[in-house]
Amino acid sequence: MGSRKNFSPAGSWQKAHRWYDRSVGQFGNYYHQRIVIPGAIRLLGLGGGEAASVLDLACGQGVLARQLPANTDYFGFDAAAGLADLARRRNKNSRHHFGVADVTQPLPLAKTDFSHAAIILALQNIENPAKALLNAQKHLRLSGRLVLVLNHPCFRIPRQSGWQIDPRNKLRYRRVNRYLSPMNIPLQIHPSRGQNSPVALTFHHPLSAYSRWLRDAGFLIEGIEEWASDKTSQGPAARMENLSRMEIPLFLALSARLDKKSQTR
Ligand SMILES: C[S@@+](CC[C@H](N)C(=O)[O-])C[C@H]1O[C@@H](n2cnc3c(N)ncnc32)[C@H](O)[C@@H]1O
Repeated sequence: MGSRKNFSPAGSWQKAHRWYDRSVGQFGNYYHQRIVIPGAIRLLGLGGGEAASVLDLACGQGVLARQLPANTDYFGFDAAAGLADLARRRNKNSRHHFGVADVTQPLPLAKTDFSHAAIILALQNIENPAKALLNAQKHLRLSGRLVLVLNHPCFRIPRQSGWQIDPRNKLRYRRVNRYLSPMNIPLQIHPSRGQNSPVALTFHHPLSAYSRWLRDAGFLIEGIEEWASDKTSQGPAARMENLSRMEIPLFLALSARLDKKSQTR
């Protein structure tokens, strides 16, 4: 699925960077604000006595950075130059730095002892996730913590999953057509522009692939959390919609510790 022709993930995000920045704003879109950023910050476990340093891979326009404790040292990298530029403009903290880089390639960064790394809602937009995780390994110190937040790979597979209604049992349920096969799925980044929207590829992989890549990069998984939407429906379908929304999570968050740091890449 998903012909490779005409797609350049970073190029698509670059084309959509103004729209993405408007939709995220200073504090994030609805789900960033309500679920993703608070959850990621809690899992990172910042704010103890020790000064933290955070490496944010595929940082977009820097929404995570702006909500970290002010004394956190931070580097964010994104392949889309327009997003890295907006991240810089939106951030006044002199401890925070943004760069343009493909996070699956060696980073223009000498520091190899970050205490924390994060990849927020982005690993599924990265063509070679295993290489991004190896980069996290390279720049984290031993025992450093990595936090990933994903669109839940079991339930949110673009074009291959969706809500269905079972009228007889008055249930809304999640249909999943395909799951185990890796898939490159084209996605309109700016849906309201229809056919004129820039298109990026989403790279679907099953949950087991993430655990394998983390192990291969020297990480031990500390915890997995599944976060559901906090929205509620009104009206005649409210009961079944609210139930299904509570039962089927939107996001999967994973925290891992760097256990083995290899010298080679
Ligand atoms: C959905 S956005 C998420 C951005 C940010 N983490 C957030 O939560 O707003 C996905 C990001 O992945 C970036 N991206 C995709 N492939 C990349 C790569 N190989 N290297 C660096 N960034 C990449 C895109 O440019 C885009 O900013």
